[in-house]
Amino acid sequence: MMKRRLGLVILPLSWVMGCVGQLGAPDGQGTGSAPKTNVVWSDEGPTTPFEPLPVGGQVSKVKYLLTGVAPTQKEIDAVKADKDGSALRSLIDGWMATPEFQAKMLLFFQNAFQQGQLSILSLEARLGFRLRGDAALLDMLLRNAQESFPRTVWNLVSQGRPLNEAMTTEQYMLTPPLKALMAASEAFHYNDNETRDGYQLSDELKGTPIAHKDAKGDPVATFVFITGTQPQITTAEFADPKSPNFLTWSSPSHDPNDPTGCGAARTSTSIASATESIFSAAYGYVIDDRSKGCKNFNGGRPMWTASDFSDWKLTTVRKPTGSEAPTRFYAVDALRKPTELVLKTPHIGFSGTVAFQSNWLSNRNNVLRVTTNQSLIVALGRSIDGEQSIFPITTPSTDEAQHADPQSACYACHKTLEPMRKFFASDISVLYRDQRSPAMTALGGEFAIDGVDKSGKGIADLSAIFAEHPRFAIAWTQKLCWFANSGACSEDDKEFQRVAEAFKASNFDFKTLVRELLSSPLVTLSSHTTTYDTRDPMVSISPRGHFCDALSSRLGLPDVCSIYSRPSGTLAVQTAKFASAVPTIGFARGAVDPVIPTEASMIPAAATEKLCIEVAERAVDATTGARYMSADDARVNTAIADMVHNLMGMPAEDPRSGEIVTALRAHFDASLKTLTATKKTGARSIALKSTFTIACQAPSLTAIGL
Ligand code: HEC
Repeated sequence: MMKRRLGLVILPLSWVMGCVGQLGAPDGQGTGSAPKTNVVWSDEGPTTPFEPLPVGGQVSKVKYLLTGVAPTQKEIDAVKADKDGSALRSLIDGWMATPEFQAKMLLFFQNAFQQGQLSILSLEARLGFRLRGDAALLDMLLRNAQESFPRTVWNLVSQGRPLNEAMTTEQYMLTPPLKALMAASEAFHYNDNETRDGYQLSDELKGTPIAHKDAKGDPVATFVFITGTQPQITTAEFADPKSPNFLTWSSPSHDPNDPTGCGAARTSTSIASATESIFSAAYGYVIDDRSKGCKNFNGGRPMWTASDFSDWKLTTVRKPTGSEAPTRFYAVDALRKPTELVLKTPHIGFSGTVAFQSNWLSNRNNVLRVTTNQSLIVALGRSIDGEQSIFPITTPSTDEAQHADPQSACYACHKTLEPMRKFFASDISVLYRDQRSPAMTALGGEFAIDGVDKSGKGIADLSAIFAEHPRFAIAWTQKLCWFANSGACSEDDKEFQRVAEAFKASNFDFKTLVRELLSSPLVTLSSHTTTYDTRDPMVSISPRGHFCDALSSRLGLPDVCSIYSRPSGTLAVQTAKFASAVPTIGFARGAVDPVIPTEASMIPAAATEKLCIEVAERAVDATTGARYMSADDARVNTAIADMVHNLMGMPAEDPRSGEIVTALRAHFDASLKTLTATKKTGARSIALKSTFTIACQAPSLTAIGL
């Protein structure tokens, strides 16, 4: 394995390169002197005086954050020559128009709106049935669920719509299988006791003459096994109640003449299993008759194709009117058409997504408290902790006597939480199905946070309160601070307040927020801010998203860590495995601040190194997509120059870049010598991969804030 072969020649690069854009050289790109060390941090923050980050470092940092691409000398010169601060802003505008920026923002939105971190297991828990079938298709479904809201917000942003519409939108970017998933959530209705008390299949088909019913008159699903050249049942027949093949699906995988009888047609025995069977069949999984000793099998004929999962369309989700039937979760052809999604359950804003709800499963004890608190965290950067709340206008009702007793320790928080969760409870049951209890639908909610005291009814009212709340601009400026600095800005900082005000004044135009914050000294460190004094070191390790995006764009290896799509091929699978060990930005229950790796520790350093070793296999001498070739000296020199100027992001004009090129070349020569002496085959290639591995771990890639 490459990992062991490379082990012999890795040496740290920091001794030669110092840091990109050293703190010690205010006028430009550093002088090649030793990096700033021995900074002493006390509880109050840094004790060393502030020094502005050189322009090269500023441009490098901002472009890295927004695109992952290395800065050019021209860009650095433009900012150096700038008199009024407009140069960096207009560069930012250019970077915001790149596809790389879109990818970064999708990841940012996924985290900030708490739509990521899902597994098939959490989706299953949200739905109430198991998801089985073709692994690749199910992986696409899982990604769809997590990408849907980020894409929805990106769509708003790119149309110049205000960001606070993400609170109230009832239009989502959806794929046909994701629409089916949302509709399937309504296949079973659950009440507030977590009891199943309704089935879409039987409710909808009551009184309809259909071929296959069980003893109770409920429709059943049938699977027949058709082999060879006989025609298979179509998705249109499957979904058509008038067809003799309604809810009957065929698959060639089982031998109909199997002597055990397992190839015989299989009919589900209950409405519950019919619902689950149909959903599985769409993914090629057939639930077989276990009582006959037949095994369920995977690998049948799915209803979905891979292209369905990339067919994103802006879809309005609305309630049925009058006697209108909700969208059928099994009507694959209808779901492929760009129509509305008609569901009984309201879906409003970020909290209405399957992803958010799968992360924050509630139950009859929790009664949507988690939903309420996490929504508050996402919308306004507040968690109910008894500190910020103001007393609600009405006193809580007696059913919450335990929490509502002013003498109890619980009161400080629950006096705010209980009336607030009723905004949700009147619309949805504790398992996120439409609320059918008249006592609950009658409930009104009350919001009392940070000086805003408003009552209303339902999720739409709460969403509107979020959208108009004075903390909205502050919360989202703060979320972007975390993205840029891996740490908070000080909300007392005048510069922070200026940025938040500018965002608000632009009617919550997200691109204005990005432009103002990323060109601000809060991020560029071009001048002193009070945030600087309140923070731990302004340097942190790069979370996985930033690091992998930079590698992808600088090496021309799209999605090198397989963050955005399922890895295909051994090398990609291997790379994804190592990438998953590099810490990433996440979120946690009850926490307002994102969970973020900030300190360079042994584990991330080892993970980064392993990842770089893996990526070397794809960047150097690979049969497809290799950027670097080791065949002869000329190509090695070209490769090393690119590693310094492009991969590490240090323009040729930077006085230090010559030294680094020389050091990397010396490393290549020394490695080659050792390898040749031991008669290693492919010595040149191994030596260049080793050289690459060093460049790949340069602080300009693995750290933010330099
Ligand atoms: C510091 C604020 C705070 C205090 C004090 C507090 N709670 Fe809570 N409580 C919350 C929040 C916020 C949630 C919802 C959080 C979640 O589920 O993620 C919650 C959730 C709950 C839940 C639902 C738990 C579940 O099963 O998921 C119960 C029950 C509860 N609290 C009871 C109490 C009682 C009883 C007390 C006093 C002994 C108390 N709380 C004190 C803030 C508080």
